[in-house]
Amino acid sequence: MLRVTVTDSPFLRACRREPVPHTPVWYMRQAGRSLPEYRKVREGIPMLDSCMRPELVAEITLQPVRRHGVDAAIYFSDIVVPLKAIGVDLDIKPGVGPVVDRPIRSRADLDRLRPLEPDDVAYVTEAIGLATAELGDTPLIGFAGAPFTLASYLVEGGPSRNHEHTKALMYGDPGLWADLLDRLAGITSAFLSVQIEAGAAAVQLFDSWVGALSPADYRRAVMPASARVFEAVAGYGVPRIHFGVGTGELLGLLGEAGADVVGVDWRVPLDEAARRIGPGKALQGNLDPAVLFAPEEAVRAQAARVLDAAAGLPGHIFNLGHGVLPDTDPDALTRLTAFVHERTASGA
Ligand code: CP3
Repeated sequence: MLRVTVTDSPFLRACRREPVPHTPVWYMRQAGRSLPEYRKVREGIPMLDSCMRPELVAEITLQPVRRHGVDAAIYFSDIVVPLKAIGVDLDIKPGVGPVVDRPIRSRADLDRLRPLEPDDVAYVTEAIGLATAELGDTPLIGFAGAPFTLASYLVEGGPSRNHEHTKALMYGDPGLWADLLDRLAGITSAFLSVQIEAGAAAVQLFDSWVGALSPADYRRAVMPASARVFEAVAGYGVPRIHFGVGTGELLGLLGEAGADVVGVDWRVPLDEAARRIGPGKALQGNLDPAVLFAPEEAVRAQAARVLDAAAGLPGHIFNLGHGVLPDTDPDALTRLTAFVHERTASGA
């Protein structure tokens, strides 16, 4: 008798580049402000507080799975949660993002980045237990911020367009920069390990802002730290996804860093992305999240273009090219999920 298990789920099969009954779908930032049920349960609870309440986290993680019928859940948290857990003085300001009171700019500042112990994030283990119990055969994706993207928030003190302080440190004090990224790699590795041991079936490393770097600088100053993270969790055997925005010129290196799946934004078609990445990797992406504001026929046409570009690839996970925008109509996401499933159903 055929029984679908998490291991056999379309999402994990696609990550392993095995045949699938339909192209699996999930959306970055699927849990969040686009959902009225999210806004309701979050009312009056600051973002970082909400990440530390296991029952609330499990509920928010489940919401998009129930509503959209997506093929995977992503653990509800934020990339700065492990930094908060080791005592970094930071907050998430609504409409702004993470802000750090005292940015990290000197060697003495590094002392504020101690290693992360599993006990620092006991609520993560508990929340993942609750979420996976309810998810059943639907896989849960764990995640963390990559060393460069975390460093950008820590060094700038908040979101940044040009990453000038970060780059000043990277070019001006390569020794301190390497030590900073090394510490962050250790924290990120520990945070991902906690999530996998609690039941995450795959992990995604978000290097959202790394597209700000040239390939040569990425290879020299950032890739070793991200590679260390992928290597640290390799032994678990769960698929490792690597994602960044504006990374057209870096796609090959994102794969080379040690990922099993490379996330692609909307600027490079998936067939071209596959050429840049080379064989042996699955691809995830890449509908422009702004397309969801267009009429339904236009959304379908653009989604069909994504699927056509991915048609010859052995492993494709349908996603957006970046996170769901807060004002997105959730019904548009539900219809998109059904469209991708129907259009790719093998009829088995
Ligand atoms: O569904 C999911 O994808 C899981 C939840 C998730 C959040 N943050 C929740 C969140 C994930 C995967 C993240 C990762 C994250 N956080 C990234 C990498 C992904 C990306 O978008 O590139 C980054 C760069 C951050 C930092 C961060 N945290 C930003 C830029 C913001 C938005 C600020 C704003 O208000 O516009 C946050 C806050 C945040 N993280 C929210 C959510 C749902 C919004 C806060 C709220 O709902 O009150």
